[in-house]
Amino acid sequence: MKTIVITGASSGIGLETARILTRKGFNVLGIGHSEVNCNRAKGSILSENPDADITYFLADLMQQREVIRVADEITLCLNQKSNGKLHALINNAGCVRSWYMTTEEGYEQQFALNHLAGFLLTYKLLPALKKAHGRVIMTGSESHKGIRVHWDDVMLRRRYNPLTAYKQSKLCNLLFAKGLNDRYATAAIRAYVVDPGLVKTGIGNKETGWLVNFIWTLRKRGGVQPEVPAETYAFLCERETVPDGLYYYLCKKKNYSKQVTSENADRLFKLSERLCGIEYENEIAHDRKVRAK
Ligand SMILES: NC(=O)c1ccc[n+]([C@@H]2O[C@H](COP(=O)([O-])OP(=O)(O)OC[C@H]3O[C@@H](n4cnc5c(N)ncnc54)[C@H](OP(=O)(O)O)[C@@H]3O)[C@@H](O)[C@H]2O)c1
Repeated sequence: MKTIVITGASSGIGLETARILTRKGFNVLGIGHSEVNCNRAKGSILSENPDADITYFLADLMQQREVIRVADEITLCLNQKSNGKLHALINNAGCVRSWYMTTEEGYEQQFALNHLAGFLLTYKLLPALKKAHGRVIMTGSESHKGIRVHWDDVMLRRRYNPLTAYKQSKLCNLLFAKGLNDRYATAAIRAYVVDPGLVKTGIGNKETGWLVNFIWTLRKRGGVQPEVPAETYAFLCERETVPDGLYYYLCKKKNYSKQVTSENADRLFKLSERLCGIEYENEIAHDRKVRAK
């Protein structure tokens, strides 16, 4: 049985993706940060499919020590359950903020959760992904278009705008996926970004001020149910032949921002490595060294 890890699997898009993937026979390891929400999500999946293979792990992915802890717990579980193999990692957990708020490391929260958490978790689970020739899928957004990375002030400390911070974090999802594909093609790992479209979830109503809360409550009325984007994750996880492309919407490839270049991807990779205190080994460099011997 193939195993898939989904972050932010306790509500919204992540929960519906967990539901559809368990229905299709995958073993799903979900991560959430609220015990109550994780228990509710698990109960809801099992109530309609008692045979679903679903396990939840608790972690506040905003904090790097929590990402590292839960990655170790998951690695242990993968070693016991699936020969250490991870078929797919879905970096989906995300948040919206109204003000400049920081994590334990002093990082802006949207950047920390929407991008850095996935960056660090992928690094920690890389051996398991490599074993399975796995897929890494980020939840992106059309809002990544029309924005650039503020390299000289990536946390936007000098002039904070929450919407800019959100859009930048979603551009980072595409740059990270591109960076992974540039580095790990030889290890047969493929990365993708899903644009879920506008989806009726509670994201803008959690830990936000009254204005964002109000706007999101109105805006989400025009959205689709989370079951709709969940199909695209299932499509990317299920295909026997590895899908090409980078950015997907409704199970089809889609154009993305011109900011998504190898140069920018590399720059973000190096910055994120520094901010997480890690160093991904470089498959390209490794390959060259092996060939030169
Ligand atoms: N909704 C849209 O229209 C839309 C459009 C484009 C992109 N997206 C992206 O879709 C992804 C999922 O969002 P959603 O709309 O499904 O919203 P959601 O229902 O609020 O789901 C977010 C998930 O992340 C979890 N989470 C939040 N903070 C966390 C933390 N510190 N540690 C661990 N988990 C945490 C939430 O847990 P709880 O259940 O405890 O809250 C929830 O499971 C996000 O990356 C978002 O940027 C959404």
